[in-house]
Amino acid sequence: MLPQVTVFLFLLHSSLSVMCPYMCECALDDRGRYEIVCRRGEMSNPIPVGQMDSGTEVIKIIPSEEHPNHLTIGPIFKELQHLEELHITNSFIPAIGIHPFWGVPALRYLNLTHNNITTVLESNFKGLFNLQELYLDYNKIESIPSGAFMHLSDLKVLSLSHNRISKLSPRLFLKLSKLKSLDLSYNDLVEFGPEIFKDVRDLREFKCRSCGLENINPMMYSILADLTYLDLGYNQLKYLSADELQDLKKLETLLLDGNHFPVILEKSFSSQFNLQVLCLQKNRLAKVTTTAFVNLTKLIELDISYNKLDRLEIATFDPIESSLRDLKVSGNNIPLPDVKYVLDKLVKLRALSIADMNYTTIPKGLFKMNAHMKFLNLSGNNLQDIHNLLYQSNLKLTDLDLSRNKFKGFDEKMSNRLDTIENLYLGSNPFICDLCDVGSMVSRVNISDAFKTALCYEPEHLRDRKIGEISFSEFDWCVAGPRDAGIGIGSLTRETSIGFMFAVVLIVLVSSILVISACLYTRKHAAYYYTHEEKRAAAQTTGERETIFSTNGITVIDGLLTKSKKTVTIATIDEITKDPELQILSSANNNI
Ligand SMILES: *[C@@H]1O[C@H](CO)[C@@H](O)[C@H](O)[C@H]1NC(C)=O
Ligand SMILES: *[C@@H]1O[C@H](CO)[C@@H](O)[C@H](O)[C@H]1NC(C)=O
Ligand SMILES: *[C@@H]1O[C@H](CO)[C@@H](O)[C@H](O)[C@H]1NC(C)=O
Ligand SMILES: *[C@@H]1O[C@H](CO)[C@@H](O)[C@H](O)[C@H]1NC(C)=O
Ligand SMILES: *[C@@H]1O[C@H](CO)[C@@H](O)[C@H](O)[C@H]1NC(C)=O
Ligand SMILES: *[C@@H]1O[C@H](CO)[C@@H](O)[C@H](O)[C@H]1NC(C)=O
Repeated sequence: MLPQVTVFLFLLHSSLSVMCPYMCECALDDRGRYEIVCRRGEMSNPIPVGQMDSGTEVIKIIPSEEHPNHLTIGPIFKELQHLEELHITNSFIPAIGIHPFWGVPALRYLNLTHNNITTVLESNFKGLFNLQELYLDYNKIESIPSGAFMHLSDLKVLSLSHNRISKLSPRLFLKLSKLKSLDLSYNDLVEFGPEIFKDVRDLREFKCRSCGLENINPMMYSILADLTYLDLGYNQLKYLSADELQDLKKLETLLLDGNHFPVILEKSFSSQFNLQVLCLQKNRLAKVTTTAFVNLTKLIELDISYNKLDRLEIATFDPIESSLRDLKVSGNNIPLPDVKYVLDKLVKLRALSIADMNYTTIPKGLFKMNAHMKFLNLSGNNLQDIHNLLYQSNLKLTDLDLSRNKFKGFDEKMSNRLDTIENLYLGSNPFICDLCDVGSMVSRVNISDAFKTALCYEPEHLRDRKIGEISFSEFDWCVAGPRDAGIGIGSLTRETSIGFMFAVVLIVLVSSILVISACLYTRKHAAYYYTHEEKRAAAQTTGERETIFSTNGITVIDGLLTKSKKTVTIATIDEITKDPELQILSSANNNI
């Protein structure tokens, strides 16, 4: 029904009017409005408004960056009484000029991004009393005088990002009382006084990403108390006092990534009852206090990745335990047992990023409590084997990022599990392209795009070729040469695996004895080695960390007996495997 109406209207329209500039395309847009789109580029003055139909509702002069126009605009749009939406981008427009839109009363949406505009004046916007959205991003605007937007009394969205504004004139936003969204990102503002916001108290969304801000006057927050979205990412903010955000009770998204916060203090967000997304990525956080997230009972997404954290306090996650769905802790130095604690608590988690953490193995049962997990980012670790992950039957992943690890190939069983994952990423792994390492991937290139496009690392003559583009006869059976012990037994041939198993049993026996005696003699040294004891000693003496947990039935006691200064530590399997000397032992253990 609807498409037919649209077609009919279109025919009606095109039969009534044949006016269309020859270098443009004219049609109805998806909302049924008469639209002229000029993409061709290298257009120069004048803009062919004379060839445009007087019923035109949308004009898009949007060449590519490679073929820009050279245009100026003046009072040329007067005939277009129905013009609602105008885009002129990549056209080196130097200035908006004196009321070019006077007598174009229907204009609601103006996009002049990617031009050469250096200043904006009050006279530019006369007559635009219905304008709702104004985009001036990616220009060269250096200054804007007070009251420049005073004719835009209905404006809801103002976007001035990627300009060269270094100072906000007083009363810059005069008469913009309906403004809901303001973007000043990527200007070198360094600072602004809170009074500038008195004219835009109704603001819901404020972005000043990469504005060079060193501090914020908290008065701003009390003026902008209706904000739901605040982006102050990539500034130079160093300190967030505990009550700083107390007026922002409606906040839903808060982005503070790329700043210099060293710590998240207690109860910093205790008034943000509605917060759903909190991003603290790439700060200098060495500590997140246990009460940092108090009252964030609606938090869905938390990103604390790429900081300097070397532990997670389980109590930190108490308030967000039942709401959190997406946790990103990548690029910190957090021991896997800490992550395990938190995972056991966050049973509703759907997405986890633990990339760039130098993990060498995924222990059995890491995700035992996380049956809802769909997205897992393990990229940039030192993994060679993920049997423990894939054989966890309650885990039904749709997205798995294993790129930048140490995978050399996958055995039949692993490939069989991996090819069911919708979005699998395998880039930058040292795949050995012979049949005993990647044979199971080769046989699935038509099922799995990730296998098809995985790049070989060895042998050298196949390096950087896609597995799916190598013909079967080019693969050797097994490329000769020493193997790291980490590779799965499953990828070896039958004959060798029996001998291998025997050897493994022997090694296990002998090295168990060695390990036990080594432990007895060098317990103190071992404790230091495995748990960064010196870093923790300070915290432990203050009694902050006294925890006991159990993985795989192996009980780990960490930080107990702190009073006597001597710490007893029994390392977990995965801690052992960080030690290259013991890796052979433990991976053999895992495989049996
Ligand atoms: C403005 O136009 C450019 C070029 O077509 C487009 O990429 C951009 O998304 C538009 N911006 C808005 C806010 O419509
Ligand atoms: C754009 O502005 C710069 C100065 O900001 C000027 O050097 C350049 O020539 C202008 N480009 C065009 C095509 O007008
Ligand atoms: C958490 O919210 C409650 C109201 O729901 C409030 O009484 C309490 O003071 C808040 N906690 C903190 C630490 O501010
Ligand atoms: C991982 O190891 C590399 C090399 O030893 C080191 O440079 C990096 O900082 C480590 N990353 C983390 C998160 O500990
Ligand atoms: C996984 O994390 C890495 C590093 O943070 C990131 O570059 C990559 O885009 C992430 N993968 C996915 C699928 O989001
Ligand atoms: C994948 O498909 C191609 C073309 O259809 C076919 O030639 C090739 O034998 C298939 N490979 C496998 C392993 O089934």
